[in-house]
Amino acid sequence: MKANLPLLVSMVVLGVLGVCQGGSLRKKYYKSACPLAEEIVQKVTWRHVSSNPNLPAKLIRMHFHDCFVRGCDGSVLLNSTANSTAERDAAPNLSLAGFDVIDDIKSQLEKTCPGVVSCADILALASRDSVSFQFKKPMWEVLTGRRDGKVSLASEALANIPPPVFNFSSLKQSFASKGLTVHDLVVLSGAHTIGVGHCNGFSNRLYNFTGKGDADPSLNSTYAAFLKTKCRSLSDTTAVEMDPQSSRNFDSNYFAILKQNKGLFQSDAALLTNKGARKIALELQDSADFFTEFAQSMKRMGAIGVLTGRAGEIRKKCSIVNV
Ligand code: HEM
Ligand SMILES: *[C@@H]1O[C@H](CO)[C@@H](O)[C@H](O)[C@H]1NC(C)=O
Ligand SMILES: *[C@@H]1O[C@H](CO)[C@@H](O)[C@H](O)[C@H]1NC(C)=O
Ligand SMILES: *[C@@H]1O[C@H](CO)[C@@H](O)[C@H](O)[C@H]1NC(C)=O
Ligand SMILES: *[C@@H]1O[C@H](CO)[C@@H](O)[C@H](O)[C@H]1NC(C)=O
Ligand SMILES: *[C@@H]1O[C@H](CO)[C@@H](O)[C@H](O)[C@H]1NC(C)=O
Ligand SMILES: *[C@@H]1O[C@H](CO)[C@@H](O)[C@H](O)[C@H]1NC(C)=O
Repeated sequence: MKANLPLLVSMVVLGVLGVCQGGSLRKKYYKSACPLAEEIVQKVTWRHVSSNPNLPAKLIRMHFHDCFVRGCDGSVLLNSTANSTAERDAAPNLSLAGFDVIDDIKSQLEKTCPGVVSCADILALASRDSVSFQFKKPMWEVLTGRRDGKVSLASEALANIPPPVFNFSSLKQSFASKGLTVHDLVVLSGAHTIGVGHCNGFSNRLYNFTGKGDADPSLNSTYAAFLKTKCRSLSDTTAVEMDPQSSRNFDSNYFAILKQNKGLFQSDAALLTNKGARKIALELQDSADFFTEFAQSMKRMGAIGVLTGRAGEIRKKCSIVNV
C-alpha cells in the first residue's frame, strides 16, 4: 500500500496536468463513432484549397481566434443572434473568412455520421489540413474530442485577441493567460508566413508612429518606403502580403524577413525586442526546426480551454447552437 503512494500521487499529478493541457483530447477520437471523419475533413478541405489558395491563412487564423476566446470550442463559428453580437462580428474579425468551408465540411459529415463530429474539431482539423495541402501530408497531429460551446460574445473577442499594436510584454501576458509560453508565442507568430494584413493594422508605423507624422524606427526603412506605395494613408484598407513573394507558402521565411526588420505588425517586430524571444526567432529560420516546433505549439494552442466529456454539445450546424 505504502509503496504505491508515490505512484498514486504521480498519477493524480499527471492527471491534473493532463486536464490542464487538454489531456482529455485523444488521437482519432472518432475512430469508432465516425471512422471516416478525418478523411472527409481532409478531402473537403483540400477540394476547397485547390480552388482557393488563400484559404489556409483564413482557416488557421480562425482556429487561433477560436482558441483564444473561451477555448477551442467553435464559438468563433457562431452567428450573432437577436440578443447578442458574436465573436465573428467583433472588430478583430477583420477579414475572418472560410465559414462557408467549415459549413460545407460539417454538412458532409452530417450525412455520414449525424451529430457526431464537433465544429471545434472540424476547425482544428481543417486548419491543419488546409496548411498541409501544399505538402500532401499532415504537418501536425490534431488530437480530437472537443465539444462545441453555446456562447459567443463580441466583447470577449475584443478582450482576448491580441491586437497588432501589442508590445512584447503585452503579447507575453496574452499568451500566458492561455497557458502558452514565450516559445509558443514566437513559434506561432510564424503563421504570419502566409496570408495578408490590411494597411490599417500597421499604417501607423508608416505615417504617424509617435504622433509626429513619423515612421516606426524599428521598421526597415527600405521596406517602409515600399509599404507606403501600397498603403497611401492612415485609413487605407488595402491588403498586403505579410511575407512578400512567399505569402502562400508555409515556410520559415517569416523569421528571415523578421530578422531584416520587415515584420509587418508591431507585434511581429516586438518579438525581436526581448533577448530570449529574439534568440528563438533567429533559430526558427531553420525550416526543419520551425516545422517541428510549430507542430508542438499548435497542439498546445489546440488544447486551450477545450470542452470535453459531457460539457457543451455537438452542434448540428456550426453557425447556430442546437435548439
Ligand atoms: C501573436 C499575436 C498575434 C497578433 C497580434 C496577430 C495579428 C494579426 C493581424 C492584425 C492580422 C491581419 C488581419 C487583417 O488585416 O486582415 C493577422 C493575420 C493573420 N494571422 Fe495573426 N496575429 C497573432 C497571432 C497569430 C497566430 C497565433 C496565428 C495562427 C497560429 C495567426 C495567423 C494569422 C494568419 C494566417 C493571418 C493571415 C490571415 C489572412 O490572410 O486573411 N496569427 N494576424
Ligand atoms: C450565419 O450567417 C451567415 C452569414 O451571414 C449565413 O450565410 C448563414 O446562413 C447563417 N447561418 C444560419 C444557420 O442561419
Ligand atoms: C433572447 O433573450 C431572451 C431573454 O433573455 C431569451 O428568452 C431568448 O431565448 C433569447 N433569444 C435568442 C435568439 O437568443
Ligand atoms: C465583422 O464584423 C462587422 C461588424 O463589426 C460585420 O459587419 C462583418 O460582417 C464581420 N465580418 C465577418 C467576416 O463576419
Ligand atoms: C507595453 O504596453 C503596455 C500597455 O500599453 C504598457 O503598459 C507597457 O509599459 C509597455 N511596455 C513596454 C516595455 O513598453
Ligand atoms: C498623428 O497623431 C497625432 C497625435 O495622436 C494627431 O494629433 C494627428 O492628427 C495625427 N496625424 C494624422 C495625419 O492622422
Ligand atoms: C532592410 O532590408 C534590406 C533588403 O531589402 C536589407 O538588405 C537590410 O539589411 C535591411 N535593413 C535592416 C536594418 O534590417
